[in-house]
Amino acid sequence: MEFNIATIPGDGIGPDIVEQAINVLKQIGKKYKHNFNFTEVLAGGCAIDATGEPLPMQTIRTCQDSDSVLLGAVGGPKWDNLPGDKRPEKALLGLRSQLGLYANIRPAILHKSLKDACPLKPEIIGDGLDIVVVRELTGGIYFGKRGRMINNQGNEEAFDTLTYSIPEIERIAKSAFDIAIKRNKKVTSVDKANILESSRLWREIVTEVAKDYPEVALNHLYVDNAAMQLILNPKQFDVIITSNMFGDILSDEASMITGSIGMLPSASLGNDKTGLYEPIHGSAPDIAGQNKANPIATILSAAMMLRYSFTLEEEANVIENAVTKVLGSNYRTGDIMSSGMKEVGTKEMGELICKNL
Ligand code: IPM
Ligand code: MG
Repeated sequence: MEFNIATIPGDGIGPDIVEQAINVLKQIGKKYKHNFNFTEVLAGGCAIDATGEPLPMQTIRTCQDSDSVLLGAVGGPKWDNLPGDKRPEKALLGLRSQLGLYANIRPAILHKSLKDACPLKPEIIGDGLDIVVVRELTGGIYFGKRGRMINNQGNEEAFDTLTYSIPEIERIAKSAFDIAIKRNKKVTSVDKANILESSRLWREIVTEVAKDYPEVALNHLYVDNAAMQLILNPKQFDVIITSNMFGDILSDEASMITGSIGMLPSASLGNDKTGLYEPIHGSAPDIAGQNKANPIATILSAAMMLRYSFTLEEEANVIENAVTKVLGSNYRTGDIMSSGMKEVGTKEMGELICKNL
């Protein structure tokens, strides 16, 4: 089969890790006789430098015309002082909303061989951890009206607004329940319904949607409690569904149970098959271009692309198993390094995974 993939290496370590994920896909293409065509486009800081815009029209068009998008990371100190709508991060938000990708799936799985890299105690980890965070991605406070003004006392003030509509909550709730049904059939909805009206609506609607999934157990947690529970007793979680900002925060927290933020992939999905696949970590400008970044989150994101957008389940499993094998053979990038392990760079890690496909 033939698939067109738009690639966005982006900034910082983005190009380092995307290169490795492309190599893995090429190898899978050879093995299974698929044609993966890659078209590289600009977004983020490098796009600002080249065109003045974080998300050029050309990039949006190429992504829309592709079967899926593979993205590295955007942002860096060089662009930190630009106004909000000119920042590199704007590219990511723009792309997600332009492509209608409202469901962000972030699986946090602790590989057995990475137990030592996980900061939690062995008795908390038990025989492993496997949680999926389903983050709403195109609504909430990241997309609400924001601005600055002078108040009645003559002081400058700034505001951001958090809005959710019933259809927005319904569709993300359905995504979460559909995922839970194929797993351990438990959904935890995270909100701040003791304070926020948008959270009260969220809770109501998630409860309503749950009625269509009688075999799935639903519970609700306030976000502050959920943040604590993730560390105290992560085993209680199967699927966590939450709003854009809470999901952003909790998925970074959940990534640590995998040993490193460099391990956690993500899929952003909408109503059609085109998805955006990216690691959840940032551009780590301090180690960019030094062959130090962990490419695994991006490689696992490519596996998610095969599974969710191309329905190539076997090929996706082959990539995930190769990652497990390489980790089982004690190869580690710096972020997941522990004593007795063999430290390798970005390229070597990518090559080892390719060899084990
Ligand atoms: C993420 C990132 C982005 C987000 C940033 C870079 C805009 O933190 O994907 O989690 O907040 O969504
Ligand atoms: Mg984040």
